[in-house]
Amino acid sequence: MPARWYALRYHPEQRRLWTEGRRFAVVPAGRRSGKTELAKRRLVVTLSEKKQWADPRYFAAAPTRGQAKRIFWNDIKLLTPPWWVRRVYETDMCISTVFGSEIWVVGLDKPQRIEGTPWDGGVLDEYADMKARAWSENIRPALSDRGGWCWFIGVPQGLNHFRDIVNYAQESGDCEWGLYTWSSSDILPREELEAARRVLDPRTYRQEYEASFEGATGRVYYAYSASVHEAGSIRLNPDLPIALCCDFNVDPCVWEAAQTDGRSVWVLDEIAMRNTNTREMAREALKRFGAHRPGVTVYGDAAGMSRSTAGSSDYAILHEMGLKNQRVRRSNPHVKDRVNAVNSMLMNSMDEPRLFHHPRCVEIRKDLETVEWRANGVDMDKSDPMRTHASDALGYFLEYEFPLRIHASRAGLKFYK
Ligand SMILES: Nc1ncnc2c1ncn2[C@@H]1O[C@H](COP(=O)(O)OP(=O)(O)O)[C@@H](O)[C@H]1O
Ligand SMILES: [Mg+2]
Repeated sequence: MPARWYALRYHPEQRRLWTEGRRFAVVPAGRRSGKTELAKRRLVVTLSEKKQWADPRYFAAAPTRGQAKRIFWNDIKLLTPPWWVRRVYETDMCISTVFGSEIWVVGLDKPQRIEGTPWDGGVLDEYADMKARAWSENIRPALSDRGGWCWFIGVPQGLNHFRDIVNYAQESGDCEWGLYTWSSSDILPREELEAARRVLDPRTYRQEYEASFEGATGRVYYAYSASVHEAGSIRLNPDLPIALCCDFNVDPCVWEAAQTDGRSVWVLDEIAMRNTNTREMAREALKRFGAHRPGVTVYGDAAGMSRSTAGSSDYAILHEMGLKNQRVRRSNPHVKDRVNAVNSMLMNSMDEPRLFHHPRCVEIRKDLETVEWRANGVDMDKSDPMRTHASDALGYFLEYEFPLRIHASRAGLKFYK
């Protein structure tokens, strides 16, 4: 091989990435920790692989064409053995090989560059900086024809689409996917890490050098952390009633199903639908929990009392459909009271968590992780139409059953009998 193939000592996580051969590999790892180097080598090695078709095609992609060129082009030329090369197309940044394969260096500032032709595989570098929908809309379809593979590599950038795809690789159980993560300290010399520590605030350091997905500051549910509050072991307890926490939005509409023993709360399931209505949501809830013997209790926004869909209030609809046990305040608590109830269930002052959710409840996790206060510090930022429905719904339940105000007035409660 050419001299550019200097020897590297792979650490175990890198070796796992190299040898496991998962179709989709998600690699959040620290700065300068060998992500791109490994990807370049993988791409070049792949060029000699035999396929059923004459022209296997691979891409090395970065968020922009300029970045792609800077990151990949020279090194890929240096790593490719000259006797493999049929032709180098400088302006297109493409190498065709004597095996018939091609490698293209592309910028996803125009994701259409990927579309239209089938690909056998490729790498998306600095994935956190790419357009959130590039994968599902432009890239994934182009990998279907040939069962193409893809690596998603980069440093985290807050709780965005990179985080989502990391979660998918981790939680879905989809065996086509693998998650590989390591920190810069596995590769970089100590002096360099210490130099970085001296100039970066702790949050930025964790993100850049430890591949940590850091939430934005000003988070509403600051006490939440997936590593503490997400529990795959949560199961439906056949002896406890279900609290059905309802939100009456239309698109999306998100309800949470929880149980409590009076001390802890376990959120075990979630119903999330687009463009729906109270009746359709309730049908789904009844399908899942209608036979639960200890029963189902409805909680939610007091606004659902007055607001009506097709003439009846949301709670009247639920009542009519058999969800008769309802615990809803006549008027809503203050937002801060509701939020404090949630946060104190997440972590009390003795550092004990009492609220947990199953990983399948993805909307509640996204809310708890990402919802922020607006600059006025009083209202929640609701600019993303997908957010706050799940956490609002859960908050009404928690505020009702675990209020922080000691003298919560029972007079404000309304029951449907
Ligand atoms: N085990 C290793 N794996 C990958 N690269 C390594 C390793 N050890 C040292 N290196 C060097 O570290 C550098 C990592 O750079 P790069 O792959 O561009 O980092 P990243 O893309 O993670 O920011 C490369 O120059 C590479 O030669
Ligand atoms: Mg890199």
